[in-house]
Amino acid sequence: MTRQPRCRRSVLYVPAANPKALAKAASLACDAVIFDLEDAVAPEAKDEARAALEAHFRQGDQAARQERIIRVNAVSSAWGAQDMAAAARCRPDAVLLPKVETGEALAEARRQLDGAGGAGVRLWAMIETPRGIVDLREIVSFGARDDVGLDCLVAGTNDIAKETGLPLPAGRGTIEHWLALIVIHARAFGLDAVDGVYNDFRDEAGFAAECRAGALAGFDGKTLIHPGQIGPANAAFSPGEAALAEARAIVAAFAEPANAGKGVISVDGRMVELLHAEMARRTLAKASS
Ligand code: COA
Ligand code: MG
Repeated sequence: MTRQPRCRRSVLYVPAANPKALAKAASLACDAVIFDLEDAVAPEAKDEARAALEAHFRQGDQAARQERIIRVNAVSSAWGAQDMAAAARCRPDAVLLPKVETGEALAEARRQLDGAGGAGVRLWAMIETPRGIVDLREIVSFGARDDVGLDCLVAGTNDIAKETGLPLPAGRGTIEHWLALIVIHARAFGLDAVDGVYNDFRDEAGFAAECRAGALAGFDGKTLIHPGQIGPANAAFSPGEAALAEARAIVAAFAEPANAGKGVISVDGRMVELLHAEMARRTLAKASS
């Protein structure tokens, strides 16, 4: 299973039990949609939500550019096996597993998914418990194996706050360190990492500030709960005009015949090395994807 680089700036949760939200999903400008069977669906609505999701996928209402992910209930829960079977029939790009705490949980999910006909469907993992954070290395090193197919980590900030009993003040200073651990483990094993949700969806300024902080912390994007958050997230996790102009200048400078074969040059009075040229090409590729 080869990992395809994807743009994951804006990743919108859509409760599978909400027909209006389901119908709207494909028309939205988010990079990815997580169809949720877990936290956004009440226990008594699980069966109905699963059936609605399958009908939605059968009807094939899909924006070609959107990545589609299904969040299932824990494999060990009363709904886990049925969710996994339904996900295999839907054939989304990936299945998102909640509260992942061990490599074995990924192995079990892989077995279930493959057994239900979902071979080739990628895995995403929520990191949202103390144990999940403490054992990130085991989870990610195992998940990154080709036969497991883990693609992306999702920070579950609401559950982290719940499990640790810590508040989530503006700036999230209480959990910043753990968010950084999620990002660095994803980077170490070539995966993506997306940030947690911002609950106060009418607070535009607060949301924009948290997007900026997430981008600076190295996240590839942010999970979202409301369509109004898509535009600001896409902007915050895209390279800005200044960064693009600088990247173009660096690539152009290295392409000049006078700089052929050089490892270090000067651009606008700053030292620029070949590693900066590589970073610049990555920035330009990100902007055009
Ligand atoms: N995905 C798709 N469409 C959504 C949406 C979502 N997550 N959230 C809202 N919408 C739609 C609404 O259906 C409504 O559509 P309409 O214009 O056709 O009537 C429109 O966007 C405006 O919605 P609004 O009235 O502002 O919000 P709401 O009160 O209907 O819903 C929430 C607010 C928080 C309940 C809703 O946004 C939601 O369920 N979000 C996802 C929650 C979730 O998945 N949580 C689990 C992961 S943390
Ligand atoms: Mg959760």
